[in-house]
Amino acid sequence: MQQPRKLYVKSFGCQMNVYDSQRMADTLAREGFTETQDPAEADLVILNTCHIREKAAEKVYSELGRLRKAKQEAGADTLVAVAGCVAQAEGAEIMRRAPVVDLVVGPQSYHRLPELLRAAGKGERVVDTAFPVEDKFDHLPAPSRAATRARGPAAFLTVQEGCDKFCTFCVVPYTRGAEVSRPAGKILAEAERLVGQGVRELTLIGQNVNAYHGEGPDGRPWSLARLMGALAGIDGLARLRYTTSHPRDMGADLIAAHRDLPQLMPYLHLPVQSGSDKVLDLMNRGHSRQTYLDLVRDLRAARRDLALSSDFIVGFPGESDADFEATLELVREVGFAGAYAFKYSPRPGTPAAGHGSQVPEDVKSERLKALQKLLEASKAAFDKSLQGKTLEILLEKSGRYPGQLIGRSPYLQSVVVTDPPAAIGDLLAVTITEVGPNSLAGRAPAPALSRPLAAMEA
Ligand code: 5AD
Ligand code: SF4
Repeated sequence: MQQPRKLYVKSFGCQMNVYDSQRMADTLAREGFTETQDPAEADLVILNTCHIREKAAEKVYSELGRLRKAKQEAGADTLVAVAGCVAQAEGAEIMRRAPVVDLVVGPQSYHRLPELLRAAGKGERVVDTAFPVEDKFDHLPAPSRAATRARGPAAFLTVQEGCDKFCTFCVVPYTRGAEVSRPAGKILAEAERLVGQGVRELTLIGQNVNAYHGEGPDGRPWSLARLMGALAGIDGLARLRYTTSHPRDMGADLIAAHRDLPQLMPYLHLPVQSGSDKVLDLMNRGHSRQTYLDLVRDLRAARRDLALSSDFIVGFPGESDADFEATLELVREVGFAGAYAFKYSPRPGTPAAGHGSQVPEDVKSERLKALQKLLEASKAAFDKSLQGKTLEILLEKSGRYPGQLIGRSPYLQSVVVTDPPAAIGDLLAVTITEVGPNSLAGRAPAPALSRPLAAMEA
């Protein structure tokens, strides 16, 4: 029997890290680790890190500083591991800068965690950031029914990793490596298992998810649309989503899937980054402002109620006032339901970091403020348009007050429902009664009393 030990995992960054953190927890559950939300009582702390912007990477070092202090004060022998993209990119640097770290493990080596931990437990400082040839997913165990239940009815499923696009600002192709798609059969099996454990909604994830081209059971490459068509056939799977997509890989069959698959939610995260053709070119995005707008038109033609979200970078090297204005204009034209905007952050080793015409910090800040203001107004207008509408909500967890449940709309908004005639994991038609800045509130319409009411209306 293994001695019971406690694990605290903190995820930074994107959904890929959330998924990976869960897989690490599943792997370590077999080694006798149970999860805790309190780092102070943990025998093992894992920071699953993000390297996408400098601020994200710096957060890791501050967190490590806090851990070192806490560890010294408690005189504890907690093991500290750094995983994720900072681990991959700066493994040796972490070891040098942060003596508190016992183990550095890159995203392709999570299946090796048990043996790496054993070495670290013996006092070795271990770094594993190799890109092994074997498929880590073959070695990462499935979650237990209890773990899936605890994570709720909406789950992530990684279908693809890595990126070959080499946008000139981005570290992902270096930290996560080339695009690799998992075979469709393995994804279908994982999805069926999750649905069997009570999952109702799956978000297929990948750094470049719509570049998916995994081998199908017929031996041929399947597109993401084909994969989702097969997943839609799983009994009990009510909702499908996918993220993050690149405009270049939005093929005709994927657009058609938005028309043909009722399970596919009408909400798409489609980063555009900039509205200026000059900047898009400098970013090596491989699409223009017009091709993006054409895509939006085609998607909305396929699914009338489709809402879009996006990512934007302001202050990319060479971005002029006019370029920035073109971004604002694109936002006005598309009308996004949500979006993330970032100041350009030069990442060592990426082409744009060495570009001569870096934009001054104060200009970046001004532009970010202006863009965020516009995006917030755009989001608020979208939210407001739902007032009084009835939406299907997937109930995910308990709310703050007794009787309240919190669910998600098709557009990923949090919706607070009081005294719903349903339970967590159910889909419920909810009429939106209140629109707040961070969430919506609604109530289930009174059960239909069809006969007497129909008689009255007649
Ligand atoms: N600086 C600022 N934002 C960046 N992103 C990626 N790299 C950088 C960078 N160097 C943003 C992009 C991407 C999102 C995940 O992060 O908008 O879509
Ligand atoms: Fe980075 Fe561009 Fe690849 Fe997205 S598509 S991960 S922004 S290189």
